[in-house]
Amino acid sequence: MARLGGMAAAPRILMCPPDYYGVYYVINPWMDVARQADHAAAVDQWRRLCEALTAAGAEISLVGPVEGLPDMVFTANAGLIYRKRAIVSRFRHSQRQGEEEHFRRWLSEHGFETIDAPAGHAFEGAGDALFCGDTLYAGYRQRSDAIGHQQIGARLGVRVLPLELVSAHYYHLDTCFCPLSADAAIWFSPAFDEYGQRVIRANIPRLIDVEEAEAQCFACNAAVVGRTVITNTGCPRLHEQLREAGYAPVETPLNEFVKAGGSAKCLTLRLDGEEAAAWREQAGVGD
Ligand code: ARG
Repeated sequence: MARLGGMAAAPRILMCPPDYYGVYYVINPWMDVARQADHAAAVDQWRRLCEALTAAGAEISLVGPVEGLPDMVFTANAGLIYRKRAIVSRFRHSQRQGEEEHFRRWLSEHGFETIDAPAGHAFEGAGDALFCGDTLYAGYRQRSDAIGHQQIGARLGVRVLPLELVSAHYYHLDTCFCPLSADAAIWFSPAFDEYGQRVIRANIPRLIDVEEAEAQCFACNAAVVGRTVITNTGCPRLHEQLREAGYAPVETPLNEFVKAGGSAKCLTLRLDGEEAAAWREQAGVGD
């Protein structure tokens, strides 16, 4: 545990208010401009997610929303945090590339050494790169490139296990995989090819399988704070499994964000290291 004067430091999470959120273009199969988000409902859902995170003990920081960048609410895609370093995303789609400078500025103004993602390779941050223990699990093909992940791993000095994402609906790793602790994760196996499934099974001893109907409710896109696991509504089977495994699942409606292909995890970026990241435990003086 990271400790400050004997007290555990509060988990820190970056979010972006949904002032300009909406479905104004299509870059994944969940999006349809004819199925517009209800703005007032989205604002309310986002606020309730904040409350659930705060109730779980997290401290929320906000990056200012920017008109014309509706997907900036999905701060998981700002970058990859590793100790005091932030690898800033390089978005695949032009519609989101305008977010990069805003996230870079916020991160550098808040104490992070910002590092650009490798030139010529798309990289969508904590949407596609998630620590579980000492290893960085890296989703590639749809939004991030495998070579870029390897270069980032080399730069940070961490082991990378690339996982090909084979289903268009599960275009970011965090839509089908969620580390809970150094040896446990939630996943939706059909989103990976056979090799990827084997890699995950061989490296993570405790896996919780999500069924398709709940995967479609973004069950895997959970925000984990301590033992609290926050998801969209509509994932009762997963919640039962989580309770059996000693976690405290919490549901909150996020369907207005599913219309853009995101849910609880996508709307958050853990600034002090994800719960499952082994390095968070060692973080302290001099990092
Ligand atoms: N509309 C956004 C996109 O397609 C949703 C991003 C969701 N973020 C995530 N980390 N999965 O990029």
